[in-house]
Amino acid sequence: MTEFSHLPASRAAVATGIGCYLPPDLVTNEDLAARLDTSDDWIRTRTGIATRHVVSPGMATSDLAVEAGRRALESAGEPRVDAVVLATTTPDRPCPATAPEVAARLGQSGVAAFDVSAVCSGFLYALATAAGLIAAGTAERVLLIAADAFTTLVDPDDRSTAVIFADGAGAMVLRAGDAGEQGAVGPVVLGSDGELSDLIEVPAGGSRQRSSGRPPGPGDEHFKMRGRDIYRHAVERMTNASRQAIAAAGWAIDDVDRFAAHQANARILTSVAERLGLPTEKQLSNIERVGNTGAASIPLLLAEAATDGGLAAGQHVLLTAFGGGLTWGATTLIWPELKT
Ligand code: ACO
Repeated sequence: MTEFSHLPASRAAVATGIGCYLPPDLVTNEDLAARLDTSDDWIRTRTGIATRHVVSPGMATSDLAVEAGRRALESAGEPRVDAVVLATTTPDRPCPATAPEVAARLGQSGVAAFDVSAVCSGFLYALATAAGLIAAGTAERVLLIAADAFTTLVDPDDRSTAVIFADGAGAMVLRAGDAGEQGAVGPVVLGSDGELSDLIEVPAGGSRQRSSGRPPGPGDEHFKMRGRDIYRHAVERMTNASRQAIAAAGWAIDDVDRFAAHQANARILTSVAERLGLPTEKQLSNIERVGNTGAASIPLLLAEAATDGGLAAGQHVLLTAFGGGLTWGATTLIWPELKT
C-alpha cells in the first residue's frame, strides 16, 4: 500500500471558478427495469439512484469535458490558463490523452495538457496534481476538469453496474494564491492499494491482454466490479482519509459545514457520514438525480450546490473519494465567493 500527503505550501492553489455539464438524455429506473431484471424499488433502496444522465450516440468524454470547462472558465472570468488537467477513466481513445484536444477546443492550444487516471478518485488526484503545478511555479492558472462517460464502459446488460454508473463532467479553475485565502485547497491526502486492483477492472484492451495474443474473453472489454467488497473498502477508506485530511488542515470534525463525497452509492455516503459524526443536513448529495458519474462526481456536486444555495462562501467543506485501483483521497476547502 502506498500513501502520501502534502502540507500546504505558502503558495497555494485557490479555486476561482466552477462549472458542470450533464448530457441531456435521461434514463429512469423504470427505463432500466423495462429491459433488465431489476426494479425501481431495488435500485432506490440499494443505491439511492432514481435517474441518471447518459451520453447520446456519438457523444464522447471530451464533449462533456469541453462544456464543463467552458462554464468553469466563464465562472472564473478567466480567458486563459497555463495547464489543462483532465481526470477520466473513459478517454475518447486509448491514445493519445483526451486533455490536449479538450484544451484546443477551449481555445487553450499550446498549454500543458494531460489526463489523470484514478477512476472515481480522479478529481482529488487531479486536484493534488494541479495544486502541485501551481506550488512548483509551473503554472499560475490551471483548468481542472473531471469527466466520465461510464455508460460507454459498462455492460448495458449487467444489472449490477448498469443501474449505478452514469455520465457527466465538472470543472474548477485554480490560480496561485495564499494558503490563508478563501478557496485555498487544503492538504490533500491520497492513497492506493494495487493488491486489490481486480475489485474494479476492465480486463481487456490493455497491454496485458493484447500481448497475450488472446482475443478478449466474453465481457472482458466491459467494466467489472465486485460490489460488496468495494462497498466495504469505500466506507473504510473514505472515513480514514477524511479524518486524516481534517487533522492535516487543523480542523475538528465540528468545523465541517458541508460534506462533499464521491457519489458512489447513497448507503455508502450515509455510512461514512455516520462514522465521521456528520449529520444529514451537512451532507451534499445529488446521486438520486445523477447516479455515480465517476471522477466527475465531486465537482458536479459542488457546482450544483453552489448554484442551488446548498453551498455558501465561507463554509468549511470536506471532500473525499474512493475508486478503482484501489485509490482514495480527501481534502478540505473553505468555499470561496464564486460566480455560477
Ligand atoms: N436489481 C435487482 N437485483 C440485483 C441487482 C439489480 N440491479 N443487482 C444485483 N442484484 C441482486 C444480486 O444478483 C444478488 O442476488 P442473489 O442474492 O440472488 O445472489 C442480490 O441482488 C444482492 O446482491 P449484492 O451485490 O450482494 O447487493 P448489494 O446490496 O451489495 O448491492 C451494489 C449491490 C449496489 C452494487 C452494492 O454492493 C454497492 O453499491 N457496492 C458499491 C458499488 C459502488 O459504490 N461502486 C462505486 C465505487 S467505486 C467507483 O465509483 C468506481
